[in-house]
Amino acid sequence: MSLLKTLTATAFLLAMSSAIPVSLQHVHHEHEQDAPHGHHDHEKRGNTCSFPSDEGIVKLSTTHDGWAQDGACESGKFCQYACPPGKLMGQWNPKVTSYTYPGSQDGGVYCNDGELEKKIKDNDYCYDGKGTAEVNNKADGSVAFCQTVLPGSESMLIPTEVGSGSTQTLAVPGTDYWDSTASHYYINPPGVSADEGCVWGSTSNPYGNWAPYVAGFNMDDDGKTYGKIGWNPVYFEDSSPFSGDKPKFGIKMSCKNDSKCSGDSCEINPKDIGLNKVSNGANGKSDGASYCVLTASDSSDIVIEVFDT
Ligand SMILES: *[C@@H]1O[C@H](CO)[C@@H](O)[C@H](O)[C@H]1NC(C)=O
Repeated sequence: MSLLKTLTATAFLLAMSSAIPVSLQHVHHEHEQDAPHGHHDHEKRGNTCSFPSDEGIVKLSTTHDGWAQDGACESGKFCQYACPPGKLMGQWNPKVTSYTYPGSQDGGVYCNDGELEKKIKDNDYCYDGKGTAEVNNKADGSVAFCQTVLPGSESMLIPTEVGSGSTQTLAVPGTDYWDSTASHYYINPPGVSADEGCVWGSTSNPYGNWAPYVAGFNMDDDGKTYGKIGWNPVYFEDSSPFSGDKPKFGIKMSCKNDSKCSGDSCEINPKDIGLNKVSNGANGKSDGASYCVLTASDSSDIVIEVFDT
């Protein structure tokens, strides 16, 4: 059994490794250097694409123009956008098939001289994920799961807000998604809205990139869904003021159907288990942060329960 668990974890990590940067914070800093604030000043008017109203995409209230990126959608560039919960971005630069910078930034729709152009003609702007992961929010407040933009800047801008007492599907990519990458989420404390939580945070609050927990999902071609929950490595970085604070909420990952499950359900519960700990299951540490994984076969579901402690 333990070998099986190890293999499961390894397979999952292989699938996930390309989706989880060593430290999102560092990615952000690099990005800021590459695109300093103020670069928009040099834009020519009319040299941008406006946000489309009829493509079933989500206009963010947290960014400049509603795009899931810094600043306007400029001609000659790919422009990233958010899809509704459970769905995935169906557009990116088809010439970029490996996770290397800067091509890994080329997510979204292409802006060709002020006109939006789908470079992957057969795909809509958004398409349904596999539908095999869901949040069940048992906490008193709504909880914001914030998905990173990939391909793109990997900022945690794509909101899924789950009301208290509600369930909501998360986006699970199959191998048809860009470079077979997984979805990656930051999980904010209950009561924090998606507008507050799905943005770059600060050391004032454990929100956004500083949120205490992360989760990720993908599905292979055999219908196996790999789920991972863990502590956010950034929460324990030297520069983090939160590393000694026990979040007042927990998360639990389990399979909807035990007979389709490889691995044990697993819980993050700071009150009962402590900081940077997970209860059991196939687990390990990456970047100093504890995580656990499990696999649900035959397109059966993984459930993430959120609860107050
Ligand atoms: C769980 O899986 C078993 C074995 O395949 C199946 O017989 C059963 O119908 C499933 N139950 C649910 C609730 O999906």
